[in-house]
Amino acid sequence: MSENNKQLQLRDSFGSKFGVIAAAAGSAVGLGNIWKFPYIAGIYGGAAFLFVYLAFIVAIGLPVMLSELIIGRGSRRNAFGAFKVLAPGTPWRYIGILGVSAAFLILSFYGVVAGWSVQYIVLSLENGFSNKTPDEISSLFATLIGSPIKPVLLQLFFMLLTGAIVIIGIKKGIEKYTKILMPVLVVILIFLCIKAVSLEGAKAGLLFLFKPDFSKLTGDGILSALGHAFFTLSLGMGTLITYGSYIKNDNNLVNTVINVTVADTVIAILAGVAIFPAVFAFGIEPSEGPGLIFVTLPNVFHQMPGGYIFSILFFVLLSVAALTSAISILEVVVAYFKEEFNMGRKASTVLATILISILGILCSLSMGVLSPYTFLGLNIFDLMDWISANLLLPIGGLFIALFVGWFLGRKKVKEEVAKGGSLSGIFLSAFLFLVKFIAPIAIAIVMLNKVGLLRF
Ligand code: PFF
Ligand code: NA
Repeated sequence: MSENNKQLQLRDSFGSKFGVIAAAAGSAVGLGNIWKFPYIAGIYGGAAFLFVYLAFIVAIGLPVMLSELIIGRGSRRNAFGAFKVLAPGTPWRYIGILGVSAAFLILSFYGVVAGWSVQYIVLSLENGFSNKTPDEISSLFATLIGSPIKPVLLQLFFMLLTGAIVIIGIKKGIEKYTKILMPVLVVILIFLCIKAVSLEGAKAGLLFLFKPDFSKLTGDGILSALGHAFFTLSLGMGTLITYGSYIKNDNNLVNTVINVTVADTVIAILAGVAIFPAVFAFGIEPSEGPGLIFVTLPNVFHQMPGGYIFSILFFVLLSVAALTSAISILEVVVAYFKEEFNMGRKASTVLATILISILGILCSLSMGVLSPYTFLGLNIFDLMDWISANLLLPIGGLFIALFVGWFLGRKKVKEEVAKGGSLSGIFLSAFLFLVKFIAPIAIAIVMLNKVGLLRF
């Protein structure tokens, strides 16, 4: 047996088809859906944003996700090594470097928000929102994120937890935990939606989310919709290349992609339905920004019957959603260290966790003591978010689409997709058309528009 084959045999993999979907949906469904989507939709006018975002999900998200899984399973390597296997001696591998860098930036601020969520579990347990006015609940949040020690410790705790699962491995770590936790999240969200919709004044919130007013849609809004389509589906940085590399050959990649995309989209919309009615009912500004859910939901909880329990459950589940996503981001870096530098899983997990946590500490402090340090008007936290979501992920996605469309080509795509399923000729052609032309051109136009090289 060649050295290569031996390595492949030893490679960990997902055990079941449901496990694959749980892990991939676990990666997709996260803070992006519940924390980020409502607040950026709030900033860019609600429904008009939602509409553009959905168009990007279908025309760009779906094909790029399938592309990543094809690259991953077709190479059985990390996000960087995959391109070395499939396109040896070419510069395509630098897409992988871009991806690993994006993983660093994203997880650094992601862990900070997840830390806040953990703190809100504690506050819920202490019944910390009862008898508070909306203003007091608002300042509770502002005080927490601006303090120098507490959020840093919370972020470190969360990173430790993420590392602890990744260090176990794919089947016994990542798959096992995501399979249990994902369904529960959906149930809680549905309950919250029902409660939110029945609030007095809920209608204004629903109209804001579903009735488009395209005059509010700026170039910034369109770029954010694109960036968020990538962010929410975990695309453009090799997460699904990495996960794809652990998927067995009898799995149907097309089904996986559809399941994951639908799950992520439905959950984002449900989060909007849970949050905007409450935003309007309590007179909070929809454009409040990153604090939106940490301010709105506690207001809902302390007024609803059973709110004490719901509040605890909600923040537990928000933290869990964050955890299953953080795991997938860390695994990108771990798989890269492991395979490209011949490190063990333990050593690479420890190293990756430490490096990312250091960057995360700076993100956390940038909401407080480091807030005077800004670049382009953004503090470190916002900068990490902006660069990764609006720059690195779309650029990564652009090249991933080009790679599959032009370099791998029809024959290789067909072969990979046919392994565990099939894609009829017309869908195959449609997919190739999307990755060769539509996705790259759309991404390029949106980005050029943003930097002012193209106006529309
Ligand atoms: N998709 C995750 C979310 O919506 O919260 C965030 C994320 C995970 C982004 C993995 C990128 C990634 F590679
Ligand atoms: Na998501």
